[in-house]
Amino acid sequence: MKGLISVLLLLTAALSLSAAVVVAATAIVDEELATLRMSALDTQPEPPVMSHPLNTDIIPKRSYPMQPPVIPHKIDNYQVDLNVNKCMSCHARSRVEETQARMISVTHYMDRDGNFLAELSPRRYFCQQCHVVQTDAKQLVGTDFTDLDTLIDQEQ
Ligand code: HEC
Ligand code: HEC
Repeated sequence: MKGLISVLLLLTAALSLSAAVVVAATAIVDEELATLRMSALDTQPEPPVMSHPLNTDIIPKRSYPMQPPVIPHKIDNYQVDLNVNKCMSCHARSRVEETQARMISVTHYMDRDGNFLAELSPRRYFCQQCHVVQTDAKQLVGTDFTDLDTLIDQEQ
């Protein structure tokens, strides 16, 4: 008898718990969900229009001195793998005179101990680890990033 009672008690507890979960799940109104998906989980949102990479050829301002500059041109189908590094066909030291691209900076020739190598350092081989194109996509979240110069001005 004691066993039966505790089983019943357990069952009631489990039932009321699941009821609570259902209540919690329905209590949130869809519109209040802060989601980048832009719709509730049970509906399929309209996919956004495909964005295009910006191809302005204008060197953009850097947000801080150590920032890897963003790429101001298209890189569609540029091969970067074991055999070929398309980026280096314009950005290598020996290529910039012909292409008028900027040479990769000296840090790209340094190994992790700070020694200068004759060739591009392996740790800088895959350019897109750090450099990316920009697109005309709509921003999903805002930013309150403040440039250092602005901060310094505000201090004075
Ligand atoms: C056909 C030559 C060419 C190729 C290939 C090329 N670039 Fe460029 N790149 C340029 C030129 C020229 C500029 C100067 C701005 C412009 O004209 O777009 C530039 C600008 C840049 C800049 C901006 C530099 C700065 O100081 O702000 C970055 C970063 C860059 N390229 C990265 C890359 C990466 C990464 C690849 C490979 C995925 C690549 N580029 C392939 C020619 C090239
Ligand atoms: C590990 C990150 C990283 C990788 C990988 C990398 N870069 Fe950079 N790159 C940077 C940073 C950071 C800067 C700015 C500071 C500096 O020069 O080190 C920069 C600067 C540059 C600049 C501007 C040079 C100048 O004098 O202002 C060019 C052009 C560039 N990179 C091209 C490339 C190309 C092409 C590749 C691939 C072969 C590449 N980078 C790989 C981080 C990286």
